[in-house]
Amino acid sequence: MATIKLDSVKKSFGKVDVIKGVDLDIKSQEFVVFVGPSGCGKSTLLRLVAGLEDITSGTLAIDGRVVNTLSPSDRGIAMVFQSYALYPHMTVYENMAFGLKLAKTDPRSIEERVNEAARILQLDPLLQRLPKQLSGGQRQRVAIGRAIVRKPKVFLFDEPLSNLDAALRVQMRIEIARLHHSLDATMIYVTHDQVEAMTLADRIVVLRDGYVMQFGTPLDLYHHPENRFVGGFIGSPKMNFLPCDLVGDTAGQAVVETVAGTRVSTTSAINGQRPGSGFTLGVRPEDLLAGGGGDAEIEGEVITVEHLGAETYIYVDLGMEEPLVVKAAGNSAVSHGDRARVGIPAAACYLFDPKERALERPAYN
Ligand SMILES: Nc1ncnc2c1ncn2[C@@H]1O[C@H](COP(=O)(O)OP(=O)(O)OP(=O)(O)O)[C@@H](O)[C@H]1O
Ligand SMILES: [Mg+2]
Repeated sequence: MATIKLDSVKKSFGKVDVIKGVDLDIKSQEFVVFVGPSGCGKSTLLRLVAGLEDITSGTLAIDGRVVNTLSPSDRGIAMVFQSYALYPHMTVYENMAFGLKLAKTDPRSIEERVNEAARILQLDPLLQRLPKQLSGGQRQRVAIGRAIVRKPKVFLFDEPLSNLDAALRVQMRIEIARLHHSLDATMIYVTHDQVEAMTLADRIVVLRDGYVMQFGTPLDLYHHPENRFVGGFIGSPKMNFLPCDLVGDTAGQAVVETVAGTRVSTTSAINGQRPGSGFTLGVRPEDLLAGGGGDAEIEGEVITVEHLGAETYIYVDLGMEEPLVVKAAGNSAVSHGDRARVGIPAAACYLFDPKERALERPAYN
């Protein structure tokens, strides 16, 4: 059981500010994922929690106790990295037992804990193997086992699956989710893969350039992104963005005209915004209607079609920098060079103001 609380946490390396004031309130046993583009500060923030880096200013509390100056080994945490660096000359068993031996844990307790971790991670048949006799996923499980045997209150993971192939990542993702349910620990997990974030997290922290852009449940972020960055970051393929002018409102709901000349009566609250340019209409590929329909329509030439079997992604040129991406049924007969009509359901649209903040709107679906 451990809560983790960050108050105005900042970190600079010399003159470079990397973490620029982060507040987070993480609940006991919560699974929190830090996600964001490369270099945004995910690993640094995790290392601050671990105590591997000093906090420049602000406070970090674990279970209500300020731990800013506490050494990593006194924080009750265990960390699993991307490069799992097992000891090559030790067996799986010895790799997992090593840290406990160093800490002079009594031998019977070591045996119990290693066997328990091996059971949870399904490593029992492999305990006498050397790391070189294991697959990548099995090695990663041993690295997690080394963390489990220490019985930490908090697990920290930094991109633990990024060395694995796609199939193994999915399998390990399920195992980590299961692990979270079987241990009473708080977990923070860093990834730049938004699908991993959506599937594992109780709540997600979206980071950008040292700032928290939003902290919420996966569906919160999907349905109610607070800004354009989160709108574009959560969801795959990503949300389409159409530059637009705010032309007025109907009963308080914004009416816009996109670059392509399409007028859309959105469900976003106008909330004192003045008509003008610099707004962005956001609409997800899965909400667009291939073939037309909805409350407004837009037309363009199909430049690429991706048939994925279960679904089809159609890329439509609207004369903008990026094509409009439309998700269609798996058996869609659209092909390259066709003229496409695309329907826009007004209630599915997001609207971002010139400062890229989302206007409030009811959830769609
Ligand atoms: N020891 C250091 N000294 C100076 N700058 C650093 C140091 N460590 C990290 N940085 C800088 O801080 C920024 C954030 O780095 P960080 O490793 O936290 O990013 P990240 O979000 O984990 O990225 P990635 O997804 O690539 O792992 C980067 O611009 C990086 O260059
Ligand atoms: Mg990193």
